[in-house]
Amino acid sequence: MAHNGINGEAQNQTAALPKPHKVTEIQHTQIFINNEWLCSQSGKTFPTFNPATGLKICDVQEADQADVDRAVEAARAALQRNSPWRRMDSSGRGRLLNALADLLERERGLLATLETLDTGKPFLQSFFIDLDGSIKTLRYYAGWADKIHGKTMPVDDHFMCFTKHEPVGVCGAIIPWNFPLLMFVWKIAPALCCGNTVVIKPAEQTPLTALHVGALIKEAGFPPGVVNIVPGFGPTAGAAIASHMGINKVAFTGSTEVGQLIKEAAARSNLKRVTLELGGKNPCIVFSDSDLHLAVQEAQKGAFYNQGQCCTAASRVFVEDQVYDEFVRLSVESVKRIVAGDPMDPRTTHGPQINQEQLEKILDLVESGKTEGAKLECGGSRLKDESLFIQPTIFSDVKDHMRLAKEEIFGPVQCIQKFKTQEEVIERANSTQYGLAAAVFTRSVERALSVSAALEAGTVWVNCYNALHAQTPFGGYKMSGNGRELGEYALAEYCEVKAVTIKLNEQLNI
Ligand code: NAI
Ligand code: MG
Repeated sequence: MAHNGINGEAQNQTAALPKPHKVTEIQHTQIFINNEWLCSQSGKTFPTFNPATGLKICDVQEADQADVDRAVEAARAALQRNSPWRRMDSSGRGRLLNALADLLERERGLLATLETLDTGKPFLQSFFIDLDGSIKTLRYYAGWADKIHGKTMPVDDHFMCFTKHEPVGVCGAIIPWNFPLLMFVWKIAPALCCGNTVVIKPAEQTPLTALHVGALIKEAGFPPGVVNIVPGFGPTAGAAIASHMGINKVAFTGSTEVGQLIKEAAARSNLKRVTLELGGKNPCIVFSDSDLHLAVQEAQKGAFYNQGQCCTAASRVFVEDQVYDEFVRLSVESVKRIVAGDPMDPRTTHGPQINQEQLEKILDLVESGKTEGAKLECGGSRLKDESLFIQPTIFSDVKDHMRLAKEEIFGPVQCIQKFKTQEEVIERANSTQYGLAAAVFTRSVERALSVSAALEAGTVWVNCYNALHAQTPFGGYKMSGNGRELGEYALAEYCEVKAVTIKLNEQLNI
């Protein structure tokens, strides 16, 4: 899952590289409930587009409240006490998750092609990074399935107490368009490993890989109703999940504004559990004692990977004054190696933004940088009129009060700022409502430890960026979210703890 090189180092020998599939027809465009493909009850469909060409790929059945109700009913039935899912040996759940991972490996080329068609991200990134992360996450949680157990508590002689870790129940999930397949897997894998059932809504911009995996879930042998997929829009299908009385937990990844709506809907309905992975305005701090070339490369990966459409994007780069000018110079030099173009072409490392709405939001922030007095070092506009491509853009002399330094940009824009002291940079890095990720570049172990201790962020990278692993928890402080995904920590989000206390017969006591 760690991202290596957005600048095409691995892509020189194109002959040996995997090739996109020729997709003439999309196989799966319906709602997936009870291991069956259904049309929406309203009869409505919605189009999904290829952001690289602006052309429609296909129409997809549009789920709303009535379809979510049906999906929840299926998910509840699959959880009944005597259901096949409930009676399955816990290692059986692990076997199914591994079988699904095998099928993702078998379909790797097709899934990567669908992901690139739907999102515009470069095919090789889909193939190597998104698919790799998805497969590893499935296998990681497959391994946990038969290792989730409680404890015994020593009390006095009159009682025996133990805990059981049970599934929470029906888990709703609402996911975004920036990593459609990876986010799908981050939600379903821990939920299924703990024995829950799932109703999941992919983003309306990118439903295709989730639906294809629906077919693989059925093929792997998961019982009907264990995973249900409801493609549709936020205010309809998404809101129906957040406020559903039959859903016990909801996991959301997306904007902070919608995260607040989800929590509110959960509170007003049945107080379902909520975990949220929201935005970030992540500081990347470069000290003068760092390996400057490494820092430039990693900061750039942080800013431009996935066209900047990452909640972890390194959108505030703080550079110590002694190396500031050199850092800016090297960054401007290095950004020239990013290749924008057809996402299916193996040489391409930079694709289009997801849609017009996001493009306009980013260009508005770029304009604000120009008018508020930041120095535009390169880029700053669309690549071609009418396209969704934005040039990789670097601003230097960004000041804390500027919109560029405060708002989540979610586009290919790097904002470089200068700092003088460690205390000052910690203070500035933390002065945001967000707290998702941060990075520190230094050769000093002491400095790396003291700065990472002081940063208010769920992840701190030292001398690297965007290094994510299935084993390592991920989530935010402050308004970047609640709860953790990945790693052992995520298991707690998907289990209820039952304490069983047994009164012992006095005569048996010694
Ligand atoms: P969004 O938060 O509206 O969409 C994310 C998911 O939430 C989608 O599945 C959407 O259908 C659903 N949703 C939307 N409104 C909902 C509602 N009222 N109830 C339930 N579900 C709802 O994000 P959007 O509009 O696509 O992007 C806006 C901004 O959000 C971006 O510019 C970026 O700043 C941020 N964002 C952050 C992401 C992250 O990875 N943390 C991912 C996507 C967007
Ligand atoms: Mg929205």
